[in-house]
Amino acid sequence: MTPERRPDFDARARDYDTLRPPDDAWWARFEALVELGALRGQRILDVGCGTGRLAAALATEARAKVWGVDGSEEMVSIARATVPAGVGIRQAMADSLPFRDSWFDRVTMSLVIHLVDRGAALAEARRVVAAAGRAAIATFHEDHFETYWLCPYFPSIRDIDRARFPTQSALEADLVTAGFPRVETRRIVAETTLTRAEALRRIAGRHISTFDLLPVEEIEEGEARAGRDLPAEIVIRLDQLVIVGRSA
Ligand SMILES: C[S@@+](CC[C@H](N)C(=O)[O-])C[C@H]1O[C@@H](n2cnc3c(N)ncnc32)[C@H](O)[C@@H]1O
Repeated sequence: MTPERRPDFDARARDYDTLRPPDDAWWARFEALVELGALRGQRILDVGCGTGRLAAALATEARAKVWGVDGSEEMVSIARATVPAGVGIRQAMADSLPFRDSWFDRVTMSLVIHLVDRGAALAEARRVVAAAGRAAIATFHEDHFETYWLCPYFPSIRDIDRARFPTQSALEADLVTAGFPRVETRRIVAETTLTRAEALRRIAGRHISTFDLLPVEEIEEGEARAGRDLPAEIVIRLDQLVIVGRSA
């Protein structure tokens, strides 16, 4: 039997921030999370915090009291070294959070919901937020994978990611089931322009975790084709969703 392939976030931790720098799309997502999630000044747990960028921005830009957890030891080690003083970082899984019931006002999850057991993770989020708590989730809209800039070079990305990422309606329903009955959603389409050199650097660095799930031959062929065919500038369209569930 073929073992299930899973993305290796330990391996991509060191270069994560340079291969995926915060751009206009990142900040548009951040603003929507803060606004819909009413995150300003709150006690927030950022689940799947990665290198801690969202946790850090919530602390500095939204004046929140923030903790971050991530399952990857390497991500946690980078987050600990980079977040501002006062932001707490722990290694923990989304479905087993090492915090007391109702300890937070808000839970955030940015580009994580496709990697977790959604029922278990959202139930844990509900457990750790207070009575009037919210879960604020950033992910991609299901149409994102129809136009994603890498798909012409790595065609399996479309089906792999359509299977991994929940649709808007599935995620809204999951939030209701988990105990967040009032759901609000915002779709954010943002464009960023990459130079050819930057685009090739991202491919070489396997900057998205889907690379770990592609056949090796497809990666080799796609990388060679991108090297030949990518234009001088590439407009990248990110079709993002921010979905916030309120417990009351
Ligand atoms: C695509 S990265 C997103 C990181 C960060 N939230 C961001 O927006 O840049 C996904 C992160 O989720 C973490 N992760 C995946 N599954 C997890 C789980 N079950 N529990 C906790 N963290 C998890 C990975 O280690 C990785 O750091």
